[in-house]
Amino acid sequence: MSFQLSEEQLMIQAMVREFARKEVAVTAAERDQTKAFPKTNLKKMGELGLMGMMVPVEYGGEGADTVSYVLALSEIAYACAATAVVMSVHNSITCESIVKFGSEDLKQRFLPKMATGKWIGAFALTEPHAGSDPVRQNATAVKDGDTYVINGTKRFITSGKNGHLVIVTAKTDPDAGHKGISAFVVKKGTKGLSVGHEEDKMGLRASDTVDLLFEDCRVPAANMLGAPGDGFKIAMTGLDGGRIGIAAQSLGVATAAFDAALKYAKGREQFGQKISKFQGLRWTIADMATEIEAARLLMLNAAALKDHGKKFTQQASMAKLFASEMVNRITGKALQMHGGYGFTKDYPVERFYRDARVFTIYEGTSEIQRIVISNNILKDKRKP
Ligand code: CAA
Repeated sequence: MSFQLSEEQLMIQAMVREFARKEVAVTAAERDQTKAFPKTNLKKMGELGLMGMMVPVEYGGEGADTVSYVLALSEIAYACAATAVVMSVHNSITCESIVKFGSEDLKQRFLPKMATGKWIGAFALTEPHAGSDPVRQNATAVKDGDTYVINGTKRFITSGKNGHLVIVTAKTDPDAGHKGISAFVVKKGTKGLSVGHEEDKMGLRASDTVDLLFEDCRVPAANMLGAPGDGFKIAMTGLDGGRIGIAAQSLGVATAAFDAALKYAKGREQFGQKISKFQGLRWTIADMATEIEAARLLMLNAAALKDHGKKFTQQASMAKLFASEMVNRITGKALQMHGGYGFTKDYPVERFYRDARVFTIYEGTSEIQRIVISNNILKDKRKP
């Protein structure tokens, strides 16, 4: 497999890099402070085609490959991790699930608005007592004529407040385990769907994370993705792609932290010389660059497998596991290289350090990734 990027992929990367560094990065620190949702950025990203990258052209998207998508996503993450997570959940899980599992009617109704960024998507699987183990979720969807009535509470939902549409999973057959879970597309504003508690997070502060409350929320049966009982597989399939996206976010933040550390080390003098002259620091720089490169290759490998229609579950988990743990090491080292200044808000590394922390947690913890990887290697499934 070749990791040479095509001319088109390089062009997309360069275009997004220019946009992100010019327009997104400049307001990232302010957004982190004010927690303002990045509406203006997202609107421009919609205009640039970044909100429907893998949506087919006939539904208003770009029809781009996954490799182009992760390159673009990591450029946005380099500039603002909070904006990147909104882009990631919207593209990787929400749009992709509708593209893969939606009926023609659902695709026609929702994808054109989503692909242009007019509507932002959210994905609601997690519940207060069902995080790593979503099969034990409690939300229910009961058929009533040509509608389903959904009840339940979903937790930690990215873009649940500012998004316009949510894919929600709920049990249509509570006794059937994972085979009894179904997935529905629900428009915000639907009666019975409301926003509950909003989290006050240590990082990704401009991206909202909320509870979504479903109280006798009536949804047309035609809004079901796939068939009754397909919901868990739809979620797992979406998360496979989503996990490559988290690797891309990790890569973007790690590269930003590395560049900031290099700049600082080349400017800061101690003991009569630039600190970049000290061997201890040079070895740290070499280790950081090597880890970033390894994460980049794992991410590209998983994305390329997906683009070639090959199995990529294990490789997506490997990319997510390594990249998310790597960025936590890199942001820690970058902060350390800044000394006392790294601990202040005068330099962006303290934000990178906070933003990176959740990458080993959401879309499946590192522990869950290790279960997925070892199950795939050993082929004799072990329960978590
Ligand atoms: N693709 C397709 N199907 C899959 C699959 C995949 N990657 N993984 C599992 N399945 C299927 C299996 O084939 C099986 O179906 P059959 O019985 O028909 O063969 C079914 O799903 C059940 O599989 P398992 O028995 O392996 O399921 P499990 O209960 O043991 O759980 C798990 C597996 C990997 C632990 C899974 O529960 C998991 O990934 N947990 C983590 C959940 C998670 O990532 N949550 C993140 C929340 S979303 C989020 O963070 C978004 C955000 O807003 C940022």
